[in-house]
Amino acid sequence: MNQQEFWNEKFSREGFLYGINPNAFIKSCEGNFKKSQRFLCLGEGEGRNAIYFAKKGFDVVALDASDIGLLKLETQAIENNLKIKTRCIDLNEWEPSKKYGTIVASYLHMYEEDREKLFLKIESCLKNNGFFVGEFFSKNQINYTSGGPKDLSLLYNIDDFFNSFNSCIKHKIEEVETNLDEGKGHQGKASVIRVIIQKK
Ligand SMILES: C[S@@+](CC[C@H](N)C(=O)[O-])C[C@H]1O[C@@H](n2cnc3c(N)ncnc32)[C@H](O)[C@@H]1O
Repeated sequence: MNQQEFWNEKFSREGFLYGINPNAFIKSCEGNFKKSQRFLCLGEGEGRNAIYFAKKGFDVVALDASDIGLLKLETQAIENNLKIKTRCIDLNEWEPSKKYGTIVASYLHMYEEDREKLFLKIESCLKNNGFFVGEFFSKNQINYTSGGPKDLSLLYNIDDFFNSFNSCIKHKIEEVETNLDEGKGHQGKASVIRVIIQKK
C-alpha cells in the first residue's frame, strides 16, 4: 500500500484524526514566522496547521500525498473564507519551484532513504533567514502507544537532522518525552524530535 492509499483510508473516517488545533510546538514558534513571506506546510494531512496559520494572515501552501486529507482542508478553508493553495503530491516527486519564508511539518514520516533528499529540497527552497520547524516521532516512540508508525525505518533520530541542513543554523534539534493531546490519533506519553532550523 502506498502513502496515499494508507492515509486516504485513515482520513476517510469522520472527524479529524489529529484534531483541529495546530501542533503545539509549531504554534509555540510562531513569533519567528514572517507574514509577508510564503508559508509552506509539508505532509499537512487534514490541515490543522494550514488553517491556523491562514487564519492568522499567512499566505499558506499545503502539500500532501492524500487527496482526501486535502479535501478536508479545502472544505475548512471555504467554511472559514480562507485562501490556501493545496497540492496533492508524493514529496519524493516534489520539485520546489518557489521560495518560502517558513516551512513546517508535523509528523511527516518519510522512509530513511528518502529523508536526505527531502531535507535538501527544504533547505533549497527556504528564503534566507527563513525557518523550518517540525515535530516528529523518534525511534523511541516504538515503545509507546500514543500514535505513530510501528516501523523503525519511518521513525527519526536526531542525527537525521544534524547530518543535514548544512547551510542552516540549527537552533534546536532535540528529543524529548512529552504528553500528546492531538485528536484520537496522538494521545498520551510520546517520544518526539523537535527542530527549529534557520537558513543563513
Ligand atoms: C501523521 S500524518 C500528519 C498530518 C499533519 N501533518 C498533522 O500533523 O495533522 C502524516 C501525513 O504525511 C503525509 N505523507 C506521508 N508521506 C508522504 C509523502 N511521501 N508525500 C506526501 N505526503 C506524505 C500523509 O499523507 C499524512 O497526511
